[in-house]
Amino acid sequence: MTLTAESPPMAKQTPSLPATRTVTLTVNGSDISAQLAPWTSLLDALREYMHLTGTKKGCDHGQCGACTVLVNGKRINSCLTLAVLQEGNQITTIEGLAQQAGPEGLHPLQKAFIDHDAFQCGYCTPGQICSAVGLMNEGHAKTTDDIRELMSGNICRCGAYTNIVDAIQSVMHPQPDSL
Ligand code: FES
Ligand code: FES
Repeated sequence: MTLTAESPPMAKQTPSLPATRTVTLTVNGSDISAQLAPWTSLLDALREYMHLTGTKKGCDHGQCGACTVLVNGKRINSCLTLAVLQEGNQITTIEGLAQQAGPEGLHPLQKAFIDHDAFQCGYCTPGQICSAVGLMNEGHAKTTDDIRELMSGNICRCGAYTNIVDAIQSVMHPQPDSL
């Protein structure tokens, strides 16, 4: 159809928003449901709808690693995936790592970060720790340089990198006197 000056104006159409739907995620071993719009990121679902605020939002664009969580044991940036795509997967957040540690309440990497003074403001720390668990699950890091390279997606504005690497090293390669 060719529109001309004489053509009648097209009927105004109000765009309809897709409805929210119930999304059920398995987070830290429990099923949690929320009413989510289809474009809700996993990060926003966790923080804004499931009140798991341990996972941090830094850039919201996959650049900083603050939002790193584990999905089926693999580390991902939760800002870059939609919550609806993660139904049926096992999601572990920093809160879940602490739960796995039992009554002491700290995962070995959480304890190592404290022991090695591996954070200042701590904003990047949940993502760093989840990423370090993912790195260990991957099994590719053999050397200090490997750890630096494989943790390079996690940015620390405070610059605590040296101590972060030391903390990860101490869990990957515990010294006999620290056992
Ligand atoms: S908030 Fe997801 S990578 Fe920065
Ligand atoms: S400790 Fe502050 S951003 Fe890493």
